[in-house]
Amino acid sequence: MGYLPKIIQGGMGAGVSNWRLAQAVSKAGQLGVVSGVALDQIFARRLQDGDPGGHMRRALDSFPFPAMAERIWNWLYIPGGKRPEDPYKTLKLIVKDGPREIRELCIVSNYVEIWLAREGHNNPVGINYLEKVQMPHLPSAYGAMLAGVSFVLMGAGIPLKIPGMLDKLSNHEPATYPLEIDGAQEGDDTAMRFDPRDYMECELPPLKRPDFLAIIASNLLSTVMLKRADGRVNGFVVEGPTAGGHNAPPRGKLILDEQGEAVYGERDRVDLAKMRELGVPFWLAGGYGSPEMLNEALAEGAAGVQVGTPFAYCTESGLDHEIKYELLQQVSDGRARVVTDLAASPTNFPFKVSSLEDSLSEQDVYAARRRVCDLGYLRSAYKTPDGRIDYRCASEPVKTYLAKGGKEDNTAGRKCLCNALMANIGMPQLRAAGYVERALVTSGNDIVNLTRFLPDEGLTYTAADVIAKLLLAQPRVQVSERTEALVA
Ligand SMILES: Cc1cc2nc3c(=O)[nH]c(=O)nc-3n(C[C@H](O)[C@H](O)[C@H](O)COP(=O)(O)O)c2cc1C
Repeated sequence: MGYLPKIIQGGMGAGVSNWRLAQAVSKAGQLGVVSGVALDQIFARRLQDGDPGGHMRRALDSFPFPAMAERIWNWLYIPGGKRPEDPYKTLKLIVKDGPREIRELCIVSNYVEIWLAREGHNNPVGINYLEKVQMPHLPSAYGAMLAGVSFVLMGAGIPLKIPGMLDKLSNHEPATYPLEIDGAQEGDDTAMRFDPRDYMECELPPLKRPDFLAIIASNLLSTVMLKRADGRVNGFVVEGPTAGGHNAPPRGKLILDEQGEAVYGERDRVDLAKMRELGVPFWLAGGYGSPEMLNEALAEGAAGVQVGTPFAYCTESGLDHEIKYELLQQVSDGRARVVTDLAASPTNFPFKVSSLEDSLSEQDVYAARRRVCDLGYLRSAYKTPDGRIDYRCASEPVKTYLAKGGKEDNTAGRKCLCNALMANIGMPQLRAAGYVERALVTSGNDIVNLTRFLPDEGLTYTAADVIAKLLLAQPRVQVSERTEALVA
């Protein structure tokens, strides 16, 4: 792997690390990463909001399959934007091998996000997916690769079959990905299939195979990935339990502290000497957003750091403006608080939550929400008693979940991350009787230290400010020299 950025701006879903943020970071000579989570839905809502600024249209005009681009535009674009009192369209939910219109939306939306993140510079850009959100993987990765994505990063699961998938897609060859199906038996057909030629409107040369970085939280997983993955793993991001988003659960018996938070111990610590022995580059994540921590990571033999929380609150991120302001105000007043919620995410992974008034972090706001599952990214597949495949989510209405064979225990405290994450980026769904979907903001524990990026006056800073601060103690490298080296 030729390009080793000192700073990876971590993928932040949904839509927090959007094309604007990734573009700003990559332009500044570090690795900008867009979140690939739910891009189909985000793109669909941008079109229904009237495509402010015309960015979606500009990117669509460069898409290599114009008939597909026009189908989607004609379906979803609303000139001038939808009326504020109208809800967004409910799209069909993605399932094992379809439906086709949603697969097309995945291809196009991933293409657009990467194309825009790459606009105006020649530096690499990456995309982040969650392994658990499996059904969009094949068309999404293909769309991102059509736009020349340089890195695919993936966590929240064991992505053994991603490298091989990337190899196949780069040659426009049919690719498969194994879908986890609860109750499936040996011999059941669990493979999702995708043939780019079913979608291509013209011949194209082979695509660049992006480098693949697996996000891991244990030495064991890094060894398993290198031994058993079906293609090349180019590096690792080693993520600790203070990081924003989903975290790996603690190993062994669950121990809670007085605040009811999981206690992480020695067994959860990744042995960096063993990481060095693997001979592949690695980056450290989870509270590494300072010059001191970057230096520490480099001294430990890491290629650099992956940083999320400081970028989540900078000007270019997709986080709703008011939410950003409110949480930075909390930081500035010393009131910011993050809790590791063990129940919130239907993935069953611990999920970091920022305390925020009128958001689902507050028990009364959570209790007042009627359960509805209409985005479905975190649904898991299961085999029905009559041998079909169906889908369920522990955050859906309890009755529905139980009717699908789900266990009641599994529903307690679950939150609809799909709808909340859309609200986080200013695209909440509107419901009957005027209910507006509420936010649920995730941040790393490092949020309390964001004061280091805040100016003397005001509550705004840019991605370039974060990078400049982190690189403060590093020998100077001109961005232009780095770019020349890359292009060469
Ligand atoms: C708002 C937010 C959303 C995140 N979403 C994702 C995600 O979708 N996928 C992922 O792999 N990591 C996600 N992360 C983790 C970041 O990519 C990064 O590894 C982490 O934030 C680093 O730790 P830090 O928050 O202490 O900087 C998220 C983090 C934040 C703050």
